[in-house]
Amino acid sequence: MSRNITAHTETKPHISQEPAVYQLSLYPGARAIDAPSHQSLLASAQADGVELHASCRNGTCRACLRRLHSGQVTYPIEWPGLSAQEKAEGYILPCVARPASDLVLAAQG
Ligand code: FES
Repeated sequence: MSRNITAHTETKPHISQEPAVYQLSLYPGARAIDAPSHQSLLASAQADGVELHASCRNGTCRACLRRLHSGQVTYPIEWPGLSAQEKAEGYILPCVARPASDLVLAAQG
């Protein structure tokens, strides 16, 4: 006995998997660099030849701590090594922070 098996394919709406690309500016400074939403700010800076101080690169040592002057970030980890007060004051950890908007970041830690 043989069966006819018919494959059904559904057409789903196309949802773009392309990461958004924001602009990251260091203040003071005049140049902006591309900051894709799928990678850390540290990785974006380094890809553009901008060296930011860092050590662990996983959000625990705080060596990369910097103040965000404007913009929003997200974190792929639950609670990066920042206190609630530091977060409220605008400090971020660029080694794990990912852009969610255009950003202006302190050039110095
Ligand atoms: S390099 Fe360690 S927290 Fe960013």
